[in-house]
Amino acid sequence: MIRWGVAGPGSIAKTFARTMQDVDGGEIVAVASRSPERAAAFADQFAIPRHYGDYEALAHDDDVDAVYVATPHARHAADTLTYLSGGKHVLCEKPLALNAGQVRTMTDAARAQRLFLMEALWSRFLPSYQLLSEVLGSGRVGQPLFVEADLGFRAPVDADSRLFDLAQGGGALLDLGIYPLQLCTLVLGPVERAVAGGVVGQTGVDEVTAAILHHRDGTMGVIKAAIRAGLSSTGRVAATEGSIEIPSYMHCPQSITVVAPDGTRDVLEAPFELQRGFRYEIEEVHRCLADGVTESTMMPLAESLVLAVAMDDIRSQLGVVYPGE
Ligand SMILES: NC(=O)c1ccc[n+]([C@@H]2O[C@H](COP(=O)([O-])OP(=O)(O)OC[C@H]3O[C@@H](n4cnc5c(N)ncnc54)[C@H](OP(=O)(O)O)[C@@H]3O)[C@@H](O)[C@H]2O)c1
Repeated sequence: MIRWGVAGPGSIAKTFARTMQDVDGGEIVAVASRSPERAAAFADQFAIPRHYGDYEALAHDDDVDAVYVATPHARHAADTLTYLSGGKHVLCEKPLALNAGQVRTMTDAARAQRLFLMEALWSRFLPSYQLLSEVLGSGRVGQPLFVEADLGFRAPVDADSRLFDLAQGGGALLDLGIYPLQLCTLVLGPVERAVAGGVVGQTGVDEVTAAILHHRDGTMGVIKAAIRAGLSSTGRVAATEGSIEIPSYMHCPQSITVVAPDGTRDVLEAPFELQRGFRYEIEEVHRCLADGVTESTMMPLAESLVLAVAMDDIRSQLGVVYPGE
C-alpha cells in the first residue's frame, strides 16, 4: 500500500483525491497547504488522517511514501526538491517545471537519491493514448509525417487567476500547449526547431500561442494553445498510408478515428470515466514503485526534458519570462 501525501489542496488535487478512493494499492494519508484551515478542510472532505499548514512539514512525515505535487507551476521545482530531500517519491503535475533548467535539477536530485519522479501528464496513460500508440506501432497508417493539434478556451482576463498570473507560471503554453506539444513528441520524437508566435496580454502571459515544430527527417507539427480563444481542441496525425483523428478534447479523448487513404473511417472506442481519468497515471506510479523502478517508461524524465526544452524555445520567441528566470 503506497501512502500518499498531497501538496496543494486546489482544484486538481480534489480530482486526484476523488480518484484515489477507487484505485487499489494506495491511499492518501496527509495533505499540506499554506493554510492550516484549508489543509484541515481538504482532510475532512476526503477522510485524510493528517494535515499540515505548511508544505515543508509534509516532507518530514515518516509515514508518507510518495507526494503528489499539485501546486501552481512556479512551485513545482522547489516543492519537488523539498519532498525528494525528505526521501519521498514524487508525482508532480504538468508542466514538471517552469523551464528546462529546473527539470534537469529535479531529474538530477531524483536520480541521486534513487527516488521515483514523474510528470503527471495524464493523457499519456489514458486508454485512447494507449490505443493511439498501438495503432502507430502496428504500421496500420504507415509512417507519421505531420501532426496538428490545439487546445484552448476563452477565459475572462483575471490577474489573480493562476492562468493569467506570471508569478504562478501562467499562460496558454505551459498550461494547455503542453498537451498538443506532447502529442507531437509522442508521435514524431523531440522537436529540433520551433518557429513560434503569439499574443502576450496585459498580465504578461501568453494568451494565444502558435508554433510550427520541426522534428526529425522533415516531419512537422503545428500546435496552438489559447486561454482567450476557444479552439477546436482536436488533433490529427497525417501518415503515409492514412491518418488518425483525435476528437475534442484532444488531451482526454474517448476514441480515436483511423482514416484510410480512400476515406473509410474506423472509430476505435477507448472509453473511460472522465472524472476518474487520473487512475491510469496513479496505477503506473504504483506499478513502478512495486517494481522498484525510479522512472516510468511511459513518461520518462527525458521526455519531460524534451517538452521543457521545446517550451523554453517557444516562450523565448514570445518574450514571456517568468520571475526569477
Ligand atoms: N492534469 C490535469 O488535468 C491538470 C488540470 C488542472 C491543473 N493541473 C496542474 O495542477 C497544478 C495546480 O492547478 P490547479 O488548477 O489545481 O490550481 P489551484 O486550484 O489554484 O490550486 C493550486 C493550489 O496550490 C496551492 N498554492 C501554493 N502556493 C501557492 C501560490 N503561491 N499561489 C497560489 N496557490 C498556491 C494552493 O493551496 P494553498 O493556498 O492552500 O496552499 C492551491 O490550492 C498546475 O500546475 C496545473 O498545471 C493539471
